[in-house]
Amino acid sequence: LLPPLKVAVTGAAGQIGYALVMRIASGEMLGKDQLVELSLIETEAGMSPLRGVMMELEDGAFPLLSKVTATTDLQEGFGDASFAMLVGATPRGKGMERSDLLSANAKIFADQGKALNETAAVNAKVLVVGNPANTNALVASENAPDMWPEQFIAMTRLDQSRAKALVAEKAGVPVKDVDRVIIWGNHSATQYPDLSHARIGGKWAKSILKDDKWIKEDFIPRVQKRGAEIINAKGSSSAASAASAAIDAIRDLHQGSDEEWLSNAIVSDGSYGVTKGIWYSVPTVCNGDSHYRRVQRLPIDEFSAKMMTRTEMELIEERDSVRHLLPGHEAKPVSW
Ligand code: NAI
Repeated sequence: LLPPLKVAVTGAAGQIGYALVMRIASGEMLGKDQLVELSLIETEAGMSPLRGVMMELEDGAFPLLSKVTATTDLQEGFGDASFAMLVGATPRGKGMERSDLLSANAKIFADQGKALNETAAVNAKVLVVGNPANTNALVASENAPDMWPEQFIAMTRLDQSRAKALVAEKAGVPVKDVDRVIIWGNHSATQYPDLSHARIGGKWAKSILKDDKWIKEDFIPRVQKRGAEIINAKGSSSAASAASAAIDAIRDLHQGSDEEWLSNAIVSDGSYGVTKGIWYSVPTVCNGDSHYRRVQRLPIDEFSAKMMTRTEMELIEERDSVRHLLPGHEAKPVSW
């Protein structure tokens, strides 16, 4: 067995956290030969339920779980962590504007970025799940000046999985036969689920589906609003599927994704004309060296370009509304 890797999880007593920690402990994420140490981070109020989660982890008698700790202290919780899964976030309260939600969470993620910068393992990988995930990743990264922005990923894997499942259902094939589905942009209702390059059984999906109307009027809005559809049916937001997507995202980063294109929101380097420095979901591949690389030079048609710009604009607005929390922003000349 390989010596333990420390995985820090914030919001570990929440809905997603509860489902997530069990699966990390079972070895599904880092592999069946990898010992895992879990560092669970919660708020003061979350500490009591977290004790219950810890008891259940103990009762799971997971052979690969070498240690579990719980703390409200970020430095302690992130200390030497190889992976940080940032799930805990302030939920949108009654009467709260979107900008209030952005600011409340930006403060949390600024503190977490600082603590990661000071204490996490040098090559730590950070997956941001808590919403607004893309902008939270930007804030955390900007507050971690000694870390590469590429070490921060905001999760859009759940959106991609939702999109793949819908295509599989429509085509009447198993989900494993569908690949190269892309989520562009923000993890929000402006995201663009794109089937332009998707394949079903290795063939161009659009030529099999032969239904552009379904793609535009059914598929795209349904993926964009899938979160709300689940809340309406279940009475609470998606949790097990979100945990599953987080497991998939880190597993593929750690162990490689073969040739499959995985959607991840990573820092924009200007590819596809997207504004540099925002966390924008793109298709990526990982060859098992713990880096997601964006799939480059895909042709983009007019419809896609319009959809991609729309979600980009939302991310720019989000960035601008938390700008006051980004270090050193006042120092930059406005004319840049
Ligand atoms: P939840 O409310 O059940 O759990 C959140 C937990 O985080 C609570 O236990 C709370 O005490 C804790 N928490 C809050 N602030 C914290 C902080 N500063 N430090 C540490 N812990 C903190 O929420 P749930 O359902 O687990 O969702 C968590 C987040 O994930 C939400 O922001 C949700 O919108 C987001 N989400 C993201 C998805 C994605 O695809 N990126 C999909 C589904 C949810």
